[in-house]
Amino acid sequence: METIHIQTESKQYDVFVGEGVISRLPEFLNSHLPDATKILVMTDEIVAKLHLGKVLSVLDHLNPAVFIAPGGEKAKTFDVYYDALTAGLENRLDRKSVILSLGGGAVGDLSGFVAASYMRGISFIQVPTTILAHDSAVGGKVAINHPLGKNMIGAFHQPEAVFYDLALLGTLPEQEVRSGFAEVIKHALIYDPDFYQWLRTNIQDLNSMALGQLSQSLIKGIKVKNAFVSQDERETGIRAYLNFGHTLGHAIEAEMGYGKFTHGEAVLIGMIFALKLSNELLDLNFDLENFTEWAARLGYQTSLPPQIGYDSVISRMKQDKKTVGESIRFVLLGKVGQPVLKEISESLLLDKLKAFK
Ligand SMILES: NC(=O)c1ccc[n+]([C@@H]2O[C@H](COP(=O)([O-])OP(=O)(O)OC[C@H]3O[C@@H](n4cnc5c(N)ncnc54)[C@H](O)[C@@H]3O)[C@@H](O)[C@H]2O)c1
Repeated sequence: METIHIQTESKQYDVFVGEGVISRLPEFLNSHLPDATKILVMTDEIVAKLHLGKVLSVLDHLNPAVFIAPGGEKAKTFDVYYDALTAGLENRLDRKSVILSLGGGAVGDLSGFVAASYMRGISFIQVPTTILAHDSAVGGKVAINHPLGKNMIGAFHQPEAVFYDLALLGTLPEQEVRSGFAEVIKHALIYDPDFYQWLRTNIQDLNSMALGQLSQSLIKGIKVKNAFVSQDERETGIRAYLNFGHTLGHAIEAEMGYGKFTHGEAVLIGMIFALKLSNELLDLNFDLENFTEWAARLGYQTSLPPQIGYDSVISRMKQDKKTVGESIRFVLLGKVGQPVLKEISESLLLDKLKAFK
């Protein structure tokens, strides 16, 4: 097991990474939250079928309550949020109770927001079950979606700990492995050229990754995330660099319909676009062809889906939280490991998108 210490302005906590780490939950609860009155395990219907039993068996003596959300992005609606709060009240959770999130980024975001707002904030623990959640479970951003925009209603609420049990990742479908791994690639590109080279050398097939390779990828990715959130918990500065690939990525995800195209797959296309912009506007000199070939070999789509219209994608990008006046703010790279923010006018963006397609 590896322990990564996360340090933010508001809180310090550990991320435990390894096979079987959920078995340490009782000991942690005993030592860190000895007054916990009740535990509510929040998960989604798919993860519930696959892994809820294992978590409940570990926590059996604490008689936890359970809330099961719909799978994927459907977990992040107002209705599901309301139902989860109702479950909390019906199960008599109080200010000393704990929410344990078992699932991917969607359940993590929902559970975290329930924990942030229930009785003005109670403790929560993340048990991530996707690769993508190496990103979402660390850093304390929690949110649900509004029909007019993704992650628009949320809070900053750090967990008490993250138990990243690699044994729970074995059931992930191929598409979800790809989705999560895009965020690993992002972390390497924005922060660590050596990590990027390590990925390029070691990762040639996402479906036959050795446990050691997966574990190294997640640990390095979490450390990069920590490097940003430890300096800028509330995204007033450098934390925005974590949005590399996300401006176009979020727009693609929304245009395609949540659930049809995964978050990471959309972000990977967004990163290719951002790298192209970086080459053209900042003289990055990145071998994009080689990167795109690698990404395609790993199973990623590498260009804009043909059904996506320029105007609608630009209008989506303008709705994003990164818009400044008529310009859209992009994270680009001056060098691998050196992100910069660049405002790009709508007209230039339209030209670049046309050339990208
Ligand atoms: N809070 C943050 O900082 C942050 C960062 C990045 C992404 N996000 C959010 O994370 C969400 C995406 O996260 P995600 O990709 O983990 O998606 P997800 O939680 O929707 O999970 C993807 C799918 O995989 C299933 N699944 C989860 N674990 C599984 C397992 N072990 N075996 C089999 N199936 C499993 C889920 O049921 C779901 O259908 C988005 O809502 C995004 O906005 C948040």
